Amino acid sequence: MGKDGKSCLTRCVHLLDHVIEPFMGSGVVFMNTNYSSYVLADTQPDLVSLLQIIQDEGVFFIDYCEELFCQENNTEEQYYRLRGLFNECTDKRLKAALFLYLNRHGYNGLCRFNSTGRYNVPFGDFKRPYFPRKELLLFHQKSQSVSVAQSDFRKTFAMAKPGDVIYCDPPYAPIITRQCFYYLYWCGI
Ligand SMILES: C[S@@+](CC[C@H](N)C(=O)[O-])C[C@H]1O[C@@H](n2cnc3c(N)ncnc32)[C@H](O)[C@@H]1O
Repeated sequence: MGKDGKSCLTRCVHLLDHVIEPFMGSGVVFMNTNYSSYVLADTQPDLVSLLQIIQDEGVFFIDYCEELFCQENNTEEQYYRLRGLFNECTDKRLKAALFLYLNRHGYNGLCRFNSTGRYNVPFGDFKRPYFPRKELLLFHQKSQSVSVAQSDFRKTFAMAKPGDVIYCDPPYAPIITRQCFYYLYWCGI
């Protein structure tokens, strides 16, 4: 969690009961706190789908994802092949596993799509990409009674009731709007 998130939570700590993260990303507040209830929402469909499958399937899906994190898949050639597969993929589970693979093998942990919605992050060339088993398992365990939704922040805000705390970490504006339909830095899980 960043400095802003920490100090904001310290100030609000006595108020916290129901926490809403309308720009969930990897759910950094959710992952690092323990309050009674949470609503997690984001508009990024691949991210939401990945987290919903982890929520439902836990270790079965985590094991499936880990198969992609082998030495043979950590080459430029395989990365671009799997990136192409992700861009064409219609199988929900495979697409979600590939999304995690791309996030960990792509340049700088970046998540970026071009104007036609194709994932276009170049190869990251990491020595040994980290597989976040511990973090994924924790997400599965913690999220069992949590709502994880694909929702625009305006709709999520409308669900808030008096006394709820909304933690906002909105995206940065794209530097080159012409090229980037979507741009986020997914740094948590
Ligand atoms: C800076 S990131 C949030 C990072 C997050 N705090 C974390 O723990 O990783 C911003 C997030 O907002 C999401 N987003 C962009 N536009 C949105 C919108 N209109 N409504 C809801 N979420 C949106 C992006 O998909 C991205 O995940």
